Amino acid sequence: MVRNCSPLILKVMKETQAYIERIKRVSRDYQRLELAVDRSLSSLRAGQAILSRRVEKDYEVQHWNPYLRELWFPVEVQDSNIIVIERPAREDFIPGQLLSLIGPVGNPFRFRRKLRNILLLAYETPPGPLLLMLPALLSNQVSVTMILMGSSRAYDTGHLPEEIEILLAEDDLSWPDMVMTLGWADQVFALVGQGNELSYFEQLLQLVRGRRSDVPENYMFGVFQRQLPCGVGACCACMLRARGGAKLQCVDGPAFDLTTLRLD
Ligand code: FES
Repeated sequence: MVRNCSPLILKVMKETQAYIERIKRVSRDYQRLELAVDRSLSSLRAGQAILSRRVEKDYEVQHWNPYLRELWFPVEVQDSNIIVIERPAREDFIPGQLLSLIGPVGNPFRFRRKLRNILLLAYETPPGPLLLMLPALLSNQVSVTMILMGSSRAYDTGHLPEEIEILLAEDDLSWPDMVMTLGWADQVFALVGQGNELSYFEQLLQLVRGRRSDVPENYMFGVFQRQLPCGVGACCACMLRARGGAKLQCVDGPAFDLTTLRLD
């Protein structure tokens, strides 16, 4: 597997400062942080993320910090330079906290031109990275079904739009009318927990293959949410094996057609 890792997208990413303007508790386990950000981040689209680090008031860009930045996928982008991030309620944040952000990281999700029905799968992870797509899909009259699987079933969905159909999968990952749902979906986006993601994606792909006669290309996408040491294609830490050569989550992703990846 050969992949020449060199910084590829520095021209569109930049480091900016932001601060937490407001914090809202949206469920027992999650809070939403409203970040006042540089205007360059107001055009973030579903699939794109930011690399975040908390900083102090007199922070300088050169300030060395041994820890990786956190990969945050916004759940909402508001007009007035505000992006909204959903984080576990147990994490300690205060309004006014300064952040250093690098972004945008990655590519927007690619939806089919004639999209009528979409299926979202969240397995062993909160569905945050899938949420930013919802307002645009719903305003385009796309029907959205979300299946929560494994530990994702504990995610409280009370704050999500009412128009979304939300189902909880059984322990064997099946759900009611599964064959019909998979036949009806024009596209599937799957999000899995970190750490064992290739194995989780393989399980989901096999699950779908067992219920559909074929899984065509550009039908089922896996969304990766690995932590990214550089985010610009320079370190190869986020490399994935794919048909036709290696891919990088930070440059080519975060969503990949699961039929093109080597998940073994
Ligand atoms: S190549 Fe460094 S994080 Fe992707």
